[in-house]
Amino acid sequence: MIELQKICVAFHQGKQQGSLAVDDVSLAISQGEVYGIVGASGAGKSTLLRTINLLQRPTAGTVKVNGVAVSGLTGRALRQQRQKIGMIFQHFNLMHTRTVAANVAFSLRAAGKSTADIARRVPEILALVGLADKADAYPAQLSGGQKQRVGIARAIANQPEVLLCDEPTSALDLDTSSAILQLLKEINARLGITIVLISHEMAVIKSICDRVAVMSRGRVVEEGDVFDIFANPRHEFTRQLVSHTLNLELPARLMQDLQGTLLKILFIGPSAEQPVLSDVATRFGVSVNILHGKIEYIGSRALGLLVALLTHPDTPERITEAVNYIRDNTARVEVLHG
Ligand SMILES: Nc1ncnc2c1ncn2[C@@H]1O[C@H](COP(=O)(O)OP(=O)(O)OP(=O)(O)O)[C@@H](O)[C@H]1O
Ligand SMILES: [Mg+2]
Repeated sequence: MIELQKICVAFHQGKQQGSLAVDDVSLAISQGEVYGIVGASGAGKSTLLRTINLLQRPTAGTVKVNGVAVSGLTGRALRQQRQKIGMIFQHFNLMHTRTVAANVAFSLRAAGKSTADIARRVPEILALVGLADKADAYPAQLSGGQKQRVGIARAIANQPEVLLCDEPTSALDLDTSSAILQLLKEINARLGITIVLISHEMAVIKSICDRVAVMSRGRVVEEGDVFDIFANPRHEFTRQLVSHTLNLELPARLMQDLQGTLLKILFIGPSAEQPVLSDVATRFGVSVNILHGKIEYIGSRALGLLVALLTHPDTPERITEAVNYIRDNTARVEVLHG
């Protein structure tokens, strides 16, 4: 539904051509998907996102929405196209001198809706985002999470096909953040709105996105199914992002004076539930001491990580056999020590 083809964006610095903020990015986002873009500060995420509703014109490349090359549109056609795309922001961008209802009414009026339509729609939309009782409040009287709900209400008021979200939860605490992500997920499921969401945190991507593009220095370095990217990150930058979330660093004191073989084991899907480790204990007579572990659920799929120490009282060769057995029955095994 959204196709970005070889998009480049250059910003001029004085008379000089600066380096590319977005450098040859091609992506295809399907109808109804929640698509994430993750990357460090300055990677070009916002610039790329803004090319989708043409708040930013690409220097080169084509943006297509539903097969139409929107990057060529101007005037009325461009304004009409923009109305099919809603957007929300990190700092909400609300009109502070107007009530919640008036903020939402504003975007309906801008789309040419009648007064009667507006009077009917505003309460509907506010109920949808859980703000039915805040219609007459001013933004200053709201919490951060409530402000973002107003932002969402305003963005979806005109029933857009696409909702662009630029770091929608970065200014919110953890609980509020997950409530807002939940709301976005509901909007995606109930209204079928395609969502493109930027974040610098893999945890946010993991909680609601189906697919993700990883950006670094203007380029997409890796792209795919969120589960696959977590299970098997290829690019060094992605590995760092993922390890922040899965955070399985062992305390240094545990690494000292280790006797035996220390393994980091990744389980995927069904193998996450299989008792591979108790199997090796019985089959090879090794003792398995689990030092650290966790299971992450991405969508409905399980990704398990364990750090385990294998020892054998008198026949160390049995450890090698045990490691091979684990390797054959799990997604990935890394020998950390021994
Ligand atoms: N209007 C502009 N004029 C000049 N340079 C810009 C402009 N907007 C962005 N840039 C530059 O383009 C690069 C990408 O910026 P962008 O805002 O897209 O990054 P980002 O990934 O969204 O970062 P952040 O996570 O901090 O929001 C940066 O080097 C930035 O300085
Ligand atoms: Mg940004």
